[in-house]
Amino acid sequence: MRLSRDHHGFQSLSLLCLATLVLTLLMNPQTVNAQATLEALDWAYAISPPFPPEEDDGTLHSLPGTDLQFTLDEARNRFGPADWYPQDHPEMPEIVAVGREEAGIMACALCHYPNGQGKPENASVVGLEPEYFIQQLEDMKNGLRRSANPEKANTNLMIAFAASMTEEEIQQSAEYFASMEWRQWIEVVETDTVPLTFRRGGLHIPLEGDEAGTEPIGQRIIEMPVDPEGTELWRNPRAGFRALVPPGAVAAGEELATTGGNGITVECSICHGENLDGLGLVPPLRNRSPSYLARQLFDFQQGTRQGAWAPLMDAVVENLSGEDIINLTAYLGSLPAEPED
Ligand code: HEC
Ligand code: HEC
Repeated sequence: MRLSRDHHGFQSLSLLCLATLVLTLLMNPQTVNAQATLEALDWAYAISPPFPPEEDDGTLHSLPGTDLQFTLDEARNRFGPADWYPQDHPEMPEIVAVGREEAGIMACALCHYPNGQGKPENASVVGLEPEYFIQQLEDMKNGLRRSANPEKANTNLMIAFAASMTEEEIQQSAEYFASMEWRQWIEVVETDTVPLTFRRGGLHIPLEGDEAGTEPIGQRIIEMPVDPEGTELWRNPRAGFRALVPPGAVAAGEELATTGGNGITVECSICHGENLDGLGLVPPLRNRSPSYLARQLFDFQQGTRQGAWAPLMDAVVENLSGEDIINLTAYLGSLPAEPED
């Protein structure tokens, strides 16, 4: 099946989005450089207009390594999406498996997957300390954590879910995702050229057939599913992502992360742990999605992420340029999930 995209409205709509955003930013004197940084990080948001959903013709589909079969509508059911590999995770609490429809809370598993590995346009939530996890939902609930890009619709949805969740649901989901381990999910590859892609649901998808081709990467990261159809149609929670990054980005990011780059930033390991795999309530950074990490760094810098512990990130992000953020997140994404001793 070919993944659909809204071919015609696409360019004009995304230009309109960009224009509105630029205007919003220009009206705020504090954000003189914000516009430039946001444009440099356009890839991390991959904002795109809604796309026409593929027709479900009732055919049952399967994935490698499972006997289970689901139709397209079952796979994407917002209040109980397909659980392809029940053997990969403990029993899900109700809020994770089906959400709570009366309150409009979609199943956490829909976006973050039953194993919590998540996708670049949302977040990886597996292996986070419950204390950190709960704090984030509280911050969202209290209006202290939102996207610096108001066009990021799924972050707005996430905030609405956090606001409607009960204490018990927050606790149960935090404990569930903390009970599993993060596993290798992102592959980072340095390259001069990238495939031509279109955007769909906050992700980059390679064009196929006559439309396929390549273009220079420039100063961008292009992160895409290893198996576009498996990810986009069937939500295969075993199929990860590949991030194409500019040549030299990983080494430049390593220099910034490990030395602070002569005062541009602060050594990450001081707070995120020697291996950058998290320290107490400070979250892990290794092998996490560059797109996700870049949005967070920009949110901290713009002050839209200003929860209880966000001030600790102030000196880290204050002087970061778009290019620094590309380099740092290319480096962090390139670190294998398991630290080598
Ligand atoms: C519609 C998709 C969607 C659903 C469903 C969803 N989330 Fe999220 N979640 C997101 C997005 C998007 C983000 C933030 C990404 C950003 O702003 O860059 C996020 C972020 C998070 C984070 C922050 C992770 C971090 O590292 O700080 C937590 C925790 C979280 N979600 C928990 C949940 C829980 C619990 C549920 C189920 C009640 C849930 N999510 C359901 C899309 C979703
Ligand atoms: C002084 C301590 C400190 C230093 C140094 C530090 N961090 Fe952080 N970082 C934190 C804390 C605390 C949080 C959680 C903030 C919150 O809860 O909002 C965080 C959160 C983050 C997040 C969000 C992760 C998520 O799951 O959403 C990113 C990305 C991040 N830091 C990147 C970095 C990078 C890159 C460096 C080094 C260049 C760095 N940090 C250095 C304390 C620090």
